[in-house]
Amino acid sequence: MGAPNIDTIVSLAKRRGFVFPASDIYGGLGSSWDYGPLGVELANNIKKSWWNWLVYERDDIEGLDSSIIQNRLVWKYSGHEDTFSDPLVDCRDCKTRLREDKLDTADGKFVCSNCGSTNLTESRPFNLMFRTTVGAASSDDDESALAYLRPETAQGIFTNFANVLNTSRRKLPFGIAQIGKAFRNEVTPGNFIFRTREFEQMELEYFVRPDAATAAHQEWIDDFDAWIGSLGISSANLKHYEQSKTELAHYSERTVDILYRFFPEREDVDKQWDELMGIANRTDYDLRVHSKKPEDSEGKRINPDSTEDLSYFDPQTNERFYPYIIEPSVGVNRTLLAVMMDAYEERTNDKGEVRGVLRLKPELAPIKVAVLPLAKNKPDIVELARKIKRDLQPSMRAVYDDTGGIGKLYARQDEIGTPFCVTVDHETLEDNAVTVRDRDTWEQERIGVGELESYLAERLK
Ligand code: GAP
Repeated sequence: MGAPNIDTIVSLAKRRGFVFPASDIYGGLGSSWDYGPLGVELANNIKKSWWNWLVYERDDIEGLDSSIIQNRLVWKYSGHEDTFSDPLVDCRDCKTRLREDKLDTADGKFVCSNCGSTNLTESRPFNLMFRTTVGAASSDDDESALAYLRPETAQGIFTNFANVLNTSRRKLPFGIAQIGKAFRNEVTPGNFIFRTREFEQMELEYFVRPDAATAAHQEWIDDFDAWIGSLGISSANLKHYEQSKTELAHYSERTVDILYRFFPEREDVDKQWDELMGIANRTDYDLRVHSKKPEDSEGKRINPDSTEDLSYFDPQTNERFYPYIIEPSVGVNRTLLAVMMDAYEERTNDKGEVRGVLRLKPELAPIKVAVLPLAKNKPDIVELARKIKRDLQPSMRAVYDDTGGIGKLYARQDEIGTPFCVTVDHETLEDNAVTVRDRDTWEQERIGVGELESYLAERLK
């Protein structure tokens, strides 16, 4: 089950109002997308699920919302200025610019993915951070005004470690969660919202004693498997990938990626899978590099610019150390894509027509219930249907729709993942009951208007 390819979701997303190409009326901008009325609801519901699960349902996690533009020194000491690069090559034949580490090889040579040529330039590092200037800079090259759009939300968490620790009076282990935009000048963005230059991350940085890091890492891998499962994504379309030593980021001791089958149509089975999220053991790298300490063996301060020591004093053992950090990091946009792909199903109705149905978990569905009048030219029915919608709205996202025949209206709600449709008909005026239609079974049930809200609330759980 699931969408046969991303294109099916691209088409549905545009047609129904989930995702549109950005600045489309001016010809668009490569790999930029806007989230429409349904897309913003689905993304918000995914973020709510993540935030509720971590910040509200657990007792050891605080939330944060740090700045997108930080002091440039954050990116100097994090290592991003020096190392946050992709190896760039140009194809001399078709002039395409490519990421070398994503290319296939033939006879030991890299092959252009556009034209098949092996006539490529030497690779050179290309830093992915977007540069900008802050304040009234004398020119775009004014180094003193240089700043970056953050390429990950994580660093804002590390620089606030002591602030959160002290104000929330926490002890290890504890975590800080943040959701926000990140920006990367990707060399080869693409595949719809899978890889874009502007995207949104949900990052948890979980601080632990060094001797507890290995076990905590494994626990977070298991917990995130469970969270992704709770979004309705089938385990058959998920697998783990253990990054090799050469693939690990400069800060990581071990990283496990959770892959989703984003490209089921590809013949090469290995290429069907790509990263949904990563869970890294970042060691004590981050808090060390941002601390005014430690000193190196020659007594020189390693970070002369920071004003804080971000080490932690453990009152139970009387030890001072730099906490290890376990980081589960997941993109909102990739999660949304995986959720839509996995929920998609094609079903044939009794007229033999094939219909797309998004079997979203009710918690994620942009609209929980659609109220539909069977006769839109009958004022009594329309008025009652509108009232039923208004009465449901405080407890669940409800819409009223009378823009087509009932068959069309059902088809539309199925395709956008609405779990229930409520139909108001002539009989409703007599018996004060409505027909509730279930998206997944297409079965219908007659329910009294007085019981409708509690009936739906129960079934939406
Ligand atoms: N702080 C760690 C970090 O940023 P990452 O693996 O580079 O790690 C984490 O990014 C997640 O962010 C990825 O697993 C993916 O879900 C999402 N992500 C990264 N780059 C992306 C891009 N260009 N477009 C969309 N999502 C992206």
